[in-house]
Amino acid sequence: MSIDISNLSSLSVEPGTLPDKMAAWVVREDRFGEPIDAIQLEEVDVPQPGAFEVIVRVMAAGVNFNNVWAARGEPISVFRYGDHPETGHHIGGSDASGIVWKVGEGVTRWKPGDEVVVHCNQASYEDPEVHGLDPLAAPSQKIWGYETTWGSFAEFCKVQAQQLLPKPKALSWEEAASYGLTYFTAYRMLIDQAEIQAGDKVLIWGAAGGLGVFATQLCAAAGADCVGVVSSPEKGALLETLGATGWIDRNEFPGMMRKGGETPDEEKARFKESRRFCKRVEELLGGPPDVVFEHVGQATFPTSVLCVKPFGKVVICGATSGYNLDFDVRYLWMRQKQIIGSHFANAWEATRANELIESAKVRPVLWKTMGFDQVAEAHQLLSDNKHLGKISILVGAAAEGEGKTAEGPGAIRAEVGA
Ligand SMILES: NC(=O)c1ccc[n+]([C@@H]2O[C@H](COP(=O)([O-])OP(=O)(O)OC[C@H]3O[C@@H](n4cnc5c(N)ncnc54)[C@H](OP(=O)(O)O)[C@@H]3O)[C@@H](O)[C@H]2O)c1
Repeated sequence: MSIDISNLSSLSVEPGTLPDKMAAWVVREDRFGEPIDAIQLEEVDVPQPGAFEVIVRVMAAGVNFNNVWAARGEPISVFRYGDHPETGHHIGGSDASGIVWKVGEGVTRWKPGDEVVVHCNQASYEDPEVHGLDPLAAPSQKIWGYETTWGSFAEFCKVQAQQLLPKPKALSWEEAASYGLTYFTAYRMLIDQAEIQAGDKVLIWGAAGGLGVFATQLCAAAGADCVGVVSSPEKGALLETLGATGWIDRNEFPGMMRKGGETPDEEKARFKESRRFCKRVEELLGGPPDVVFEHVGQATFPTSVLCVKPFGKVVICGATSGYNLDFDVRYLWMRQKQIIGSHFANAWEATRANELIESAKVRPVLWKTMGFDQVAEAHQLLSDNKHLGKISILVGAAAEGEGKTAEGPGAIRAEVGA
């Protein structure tokens, strides 16, 4: 059956009332594979909100790599988690901007018609960790739209009320949908985990990528000096506009990347190249970094540990190049360095970070906006590494630029990025 998605901008129901069916881009367990085949358009039942839940009409959705993993069924199937077993479908999408459409029992802070963005951390209200430690420590913690279904690649999504944040007024729908997952992750890493201070020196890997563009802006906003690592001069130019103190093209140091399976001589040569890189970092920052912002993993981690100053911190949230890390631990213990793990952000961090977007102290960096008919194609671009920055998908919004209710600079348009 073909599904008509030509007019998602006009709905037959008013806020407070839900239609029975909606269009959604769905992954199913029996068709795992490349996104272009695995993510398919279907008509599904619209969910009803449970207690403390909200149904949001999605105006725009942000594309992230986690839905590529979900489509591939790798490294493990998302159908083992959350509400997947009961629904049998995975509607991905961990970033959204939209309009509150219906609220569940107990929700008092939001009402139909409110304009919102969504952060992607979920945890059960009943877990004690939520009420004194951190929702990220709760056994029930999940990333919405990845470890749960009812994500943002649909006309309506279902979220916990605590996931909602006011939509920044000067942003269009597609700009507002583009930043949450990566920005809030970078915020927790630098502000709460590494506790950067004015005057600190920071080294940022992948600084023109999804996380890096926000890490760079956060350093600038906090008064910390930062050097970003990139793979082209165009990306370096983007960093200059974001407030970086300097940048390094990693192609000048190809030998420093850890590949695994090296001979002792190769390791020695790599170490020498890493030292040369660290020297360059020190020249640009005026000393070794207090903090290294890590997410590349295997290829760069030995250099990160070597480079960070004694008593300094390496904060890490990912491992794009491989998650089995090895490094010379003597540089860690002798110099009393710290490694800090970090994962997404809690509602308070997301709220604080979102206020910086509202005041334009930090701005989204958007590469491309695509139509709702292109959700699978957008994920295939990520899968093939052909993307050049963040992609937003128009869902309920008819055209780019809609949704602004105040004047402001809006997003930075990136010609370069990830
Ligand atoms: N735990 C969490 O909550 C969380 C949240 C968000 C993201 N992540 C993870 O963090 C990682 C980065 O996410 P992202 O959104 O920033 O991705 P991205 O937009 O693809 O950017 C990553 C950047 O890393 C650099 N890079 C890639 N491979 C590299 C290598 N071998 N050596 C050096 N640099 C390399 C690239 O920049 P250059 O080519 O310019 O150097 C790339 O642009 C992913 O693995 C993601 O899954 C985790």
